[in-house]
Amino acid sequence: MTKADQILTMVREVCALGRVEFERPHTAEGDPDAGRALVEGLQAIEPGGGPSDISLSLGLLAPRAPYFDQLVLDAVATGIPQVVNLGAGYDDRAVRFRHSGVRFFDLDLPDIVADKARRLEAMDTETAHVTLAAVDFGTDDVAEVLARAGHDAQRPTLFIAEHLVLFLEPGDVERLLAGVSGRAARGSTLALTAEVHPAGLDSGLVVSAVDDVMFAGASPLHTIQPREAWLALFERNGWRIEDADEVTAVDHFELPVAGQSVPIQTQFLTATA
Ligand SMILES: C[S@@+](CC[C@H](N)C(=O)[O-])C[C@H]1O[C@@H](n2cnc3c(N)ncnc32)[C@H](O)[C@@H]1O
Repeated sequence: MTKADQILTMVREVCALGRVEFERPHTAEGDPDAGRALVEGLQAIEPGGGPSDISLSLGLLAPRAPYFDQLVLDAVATGIPQVVNLGAGYDDRAVRFRHSGVRFFDLDLPDIVADKARRLEAMDTETAHVTLAAVDFGTDDVAEVLARAGHDAQRPTLFIAEHLVLFLEPGDVERLLAGVSGRAARGSTLALTAEVHPAGLDSGLVVSAVDDVMFAGASPLHTIQPREAWLALFERNGWRIEDADEVTAVDHFELPVAGQSVPIQTQFLTATA
């Protein structure tokens, strides 16, 4: 495993382990204990070999988890029949927000999907409404993967991508947004977390500074852009962000770039098809 893969593995596990620490809602038919069962035995190990300090992530997750929970709850309440979780990792929402008539699609890399399938099978919970689909957003066409998985492009969908696109190359993020746009019937929504740097800086320089300062050249992160670039990316791929002037965000980290201290935010962007 490369160091970048080790970091991705750690972050994936930190996200799921961190969410277990919060009181969270669930649907009437949903399983509030699924999250804890899904992460059983996971440890979130740092590339150096020591355990990751989960508490450091709680400040980031505190606004992020409820934001995405509420989107799923609202979608289910308004009768959206499909929820597609892009880069789902060990996210428990498919079982936490189980609701008659709603199909959940959890997409992730093949080995994560295989492990999640084993974990779900071992749990004493209903999973007939969950479809797991293996994908590599770096090489695969998400639209084809969804079609093969049984996703219905004629019916509306909530697409969520929590803490995914920072790990993808900018060109792959573009393909992803275009791909899901092609599967998004009227009434569909796409929500994702976007890493944002202040306007006026070169994004390539920011990404390489993040890599040098925080990851000693391991290169796990690839897409950090100014807000304007994210908004333009949504727009040219058929996604309309309402209230584009209203920023919903959590401060992620701050680091020196070309001699100045640069804050990086995680912004929550939600758009309609
Ligand atoms: C930081 S984790 C977040 C997981 C989940 N969304 C959550 O909030 O718990 C990012 C997820 O994206 C997945 N991912 C990263 N690159 C991917 C790729 N090229 N193709 C498919 N999935 C990818 C990872 O495997 C991982 O599960």
